[in-house]
Amino acid sequence: MNTRALGTTGPRVSVLGLGCMGMSDLYGPADRAESLATLHAALDAGMTLFDTGDFYGMGDNELLLREAFSGIPRERFVLSVKFGALRDPRGGWLGIDGRPAAVKNFLAYSLRRLGTDYVDVYRIARVDPAVPIEETVGAIAELVKAGAVRHIGLSEAGAETLRRAQAVHPICDLQIEYSLISRGIEAGILPAARELGVAITAYGVLSRGLLSGHWTKERGLERSDFRRISPRFMGGNLERNLALVEALRAIAQEKGTTVAALAIAWVLSRGEAIVPLIGARRRERLAEALGALALTLSPEDLARIERVVPAGAAAGDRYPAPMMAHLDSERGGAHGA
Ligand SMILES: NC(=O)c1ccc[n+]([C@@H]2O[C@H](COP(=O)([O-])OP(=O)(O)OC[C@H]3O[C@@H](n4cnc5c(N)ncnc54)[C@H](OP(=O)(O)O)[C@@H]3O)[C@@H](O)[C@H]2O)c1
Repeated sequence: MNTRALGTTGPRVSVLGLGCMGMSDLYGPADRAESLATLHAALDAGMTLFDTGDFYGMGDNELLLREAFSGIPRERFVLSVKFGALRDPRGGWLGIDGRPAAVKNFLAYSLRRLGTDYVDVYRIARVDPAVPIEETVGAIAELVKAGAVRHIGLSEAGAETLRRAQAVHPICDLQIEYSLISRGIEAGILPAARELGVAITAYGVLSRGLLSGHWTKERGLERSDFRRISPRFMGGNLERNLALVEALRAIAQEKGTTVAALAIAWVLSRGEAIVPLIGARRRERLAEALGALALTLSPEDLARIERVVPAGAAAGDRYPAPMMAHLDSERGGAHGA
């Protein structure tokens, strides 16, 4: 698989990374054996970047990765780990903790669960409004010096935070939602990242399954499924968004591909410094996503896609209002479109 650089200071990674969240949390039940098989299939396909969070299934996702990678040389995979989210025993969200002592404590637990002595890219999941980003990143920089972390990333941070963090220590990538229907970063965050030599690891490239071509109005959602509270999956918004998917399906069919591959290829076409994280948790879905690598979108294809799904076409924000309010990336005018 081709590779892309994670910014000017980070490692080279496979052009598509695997996001492992749905294997342990937030999208309803997952099959552990199939998750392990999917992780192995990803490695076999040449994927090297694997994204997790210590709060995905309260450490369960890290334990899953440990099991999947046991016996595999450590240099064959790049682990991107998010920390900081505080949860209650029922999975509820209590806030974020970016205090230096908390950062070190979170990492100590992650290393043990992952069965490794270093994390390749470490990042706080959300900017902690109560702790200056310089302090949080400064604490990770100490962990870099100690050899327990290789590189520092950010998640859902805005351009100003990115600049402040970069002044403390090189930032290799910003993990942030980016897809055909989540284009808010194009206004200010993407240009700032480019200027600073920071890569984008794009999540939600299928808008959490909405843009996959497999979503239907009839699909039921478990209580714990994030999409139950996502404005884009609700009522009239869902109907309008699925109409966009049908317009994409017509283009995909003409090109002999799937909606999912087309949506992923579109993100890949947006620049060399963008690495999409694929949320596949079954081998079949992974294979479909990898179809994007064989797809070349011509300027005509891109213009046609833009006509049927222009920026801002989605109905509903990408998070419910209280969660949008916690996104540093949404301050200063980028309103989730
Ligand atoms: N930094 C952050 O704030 C943040 C937030 C969210 C996620 N992330 C990271 O980004 C990763 C990807 O995000 P995401 O899971 O929301 O991404 P996504 O790729 O937009 O959505 C994944 C969903 O799409 C469905 N899907 C259908 N066809 C697919 C296909 N061919 N390939 C992949 N998925 C397909 C999957 O469904 P089924 O499995 O049900 O078939 C799954 O529910 C996460 O795993 C996590 O590591 C980061």
